[in-house]
Amino acid sequence: MESFHKPIKNQKALMKFFVFSSSFFAISLCVSMLLLAKTKLVVDMSSSLQSLLRVSESDPTTTVDHLVFGIASTGTAWNRRKVYTKLWWNRKPYNTMRGCVFVDTLPHAENANNNNDGSLPPLCVSEDTSQFPYTYKNGQRSAIRVARVVKETVALLNHSGVRWYVFGDDDTIFFPQNLVKTLSKYDHRLWYYVGSSSEIYDGAQVFGFGMAFGGGGFAISSSLAHVLAKVLDSCIQRYPHLYGSDSRVYSCITELGVGLTHEPGFHQVDLRGNAFGLLAAHPLTPLLSLHHLDNIDPIFPNMTIIKALQHLYEAAKVDSQRLLQQTVCYDKRLSWTISVSWGYAAQVFHNHLSLPDVVRVQKTFKHWTRGTALADQFTFDTKELHTDPCRRPTIFYLENLSRGEDGIIISNYRKSIQNCSSNVAPEVIRVASSKLELGIKQLLAQRRHCCDVLPSSVSDQMEIAIRECKEDELISMQ
Ligand SMILES: *[C@@H]1O[C@H](CO)[C@@H](O)[C@H](O)[C@H]1NC(C)=O
Ligand SMILES: *[C@@H]1O[C@H](CO)[C@@H](O)[C@H](O)[C@H]1NC(C)=O
Ligand SMILES: *[C@@H]1O[C@H](CO)[C@@H](O)[C@H](O)[C@H]1NC(C)=O
Ligand SMILES: *[C@@H]1O[C@H](CO)[C@@H](O)[C@H](O)[C@H]1NC(C)=O
Repeated sequence: MESFHKPIKNQKALMKFFVFSSSFFAISLCVSMLLLAKTKLVVDMSSSLQSLLRVSESDPTTTVDHLVFGIASTGTAWNRRKVYTKLWWNRKPYNTMRGCVFVDTLPHAENANNNNDGSLPPLCVSEDTSQFPYTYKNGQRSAIRVARVVKETVALLNHSGVRWYVFGDDDTIFFPQNLVKTLSKYDHRLWYYVGSSSEIYDGAQVFGFGMAFGGGGFAISSSLAHVLAKVLDSCIQRYPHLYGSDSRVYSCITELGVGLTHEPGFHQVDLRGNAFGLLAAHPLTPLLSLHHLDNIDPIFPNMTIIKALQHLYEAAKVDSQRLLQQTVCYDKRLSWTISVSWGYAAQVFHNHLSLPDVVRVQKTFKHWTRGTALADQFTFDTKELHTDPCRRPTIFYLENLSRGEDGIIISNYRKSIQNCSSNVAPEVIRVASSKLELGIKQLLAQRRHCCDVLPSSVSDQMEIAIRECKEDELISMQ
């Protein structure tokens, strides 16, 4: 039973990471587990149940009606955290999302009923878990309650029309259209456990590279979820020594003989500070989630955390699938490298960078904990920021975007303040693109798009057009 502790011997700092980061999450809970006998669905679910009947097993494509969400929260955290869920729950084009927010106790009475207008999922009170053992030192036994969200979600919202159960934290934001697209490439009748690891090497190493980190969110196909729901309690009995809820779910799925299907669009974000580097070099798969939004800087400068996220969702509304997708082109005349992370930011590198260098993640952020031996090790390719700020790229943040009647989407990115008189750069980068509609083939085998620097009609503005690459086109300066 000690084996789980071995890799983290003697690392107090890492313990802090455990407490605040991994499991579906990290809510510091005063565990006053009231003995609430049975899971209670607080809000009338009959309309949701009707929507369950709308979809059937035989529909070919997966839609949002095939998904059910289980969100982990607490009675004390929910009123503070629900702003995050509100960003993505039942937002256009969807208004029939289904799921529950699981709390230990209901929030204060004056707020208890305000989940009724569809802008938030209904609250469900978790079952009592006091009969289960929890022996991890310094951990929170709420990990058991949160692990059982998986089981209780299936029990409350089990129907043949459900294809996927999706789990996350109250500070996880999802991009539901991309989730639907991504899950549609898998057959929900087979056993799938879909998620992603942590960004930080020691986190992944301790908890397992094969574990879907709960804060980043994960999805379980309904066929697997039904079996898992049956056996989960016996696993929870046998893994009292584990830290988090996601570790318990992972152990049980592992015992069922199933491995993780890695989808790098889920983001645990075990980082602090400026997440720019991570967001600007997103993998080629669609953005699915972001987590720990309280712990990183607002993703757009000079905005509050929520305002900045709302700004990102404006781009998601226009072209969800292209969000953060990185396209690179070259201004041969000036020998510049231009990178567009669509819907978020553009960058001008005042030199020639080959594509493999541009798609590395710039270390603009910090590790979750300082001072651990592996504090500088991440689970993806990184590169250091240049020590001289004037040798770093000039950054342009999304200002606004619109879709014209011709279907062309124009997004404008404005230069952020950079105190380098030596770096000439336009004030605005204007990007034209069409809406990205990934078919099953592109979802299975994605290819980056190409772009061109167009002659600009407006001074101080650079114009970029994104398009599919030609058959044998290479993304390079020559
Ligand atoms: C959920 O539904 C499936 C199929 O209808 C059934 O086989 C399974 O036992 C149910 N699971 C739970 C936990 O209710
Ligand atoms: C920040 O925002 C405020 C209010 O919107 C604005 O007045 C100010 O000029 C902005 N500062 C920068 C550096 O963009
Ligand atoms: C969008 O941004 C561009 C460039 O930053 C600006 O010129 C334009 O006026 C803005 N459009 C709207 C509708 O705000
Ligand atoms: C630019 O310089 C001003 C004044 O020296 C300083 O207040 C500001 O923080 C600097 N901005 C950046 C982005 O370095």
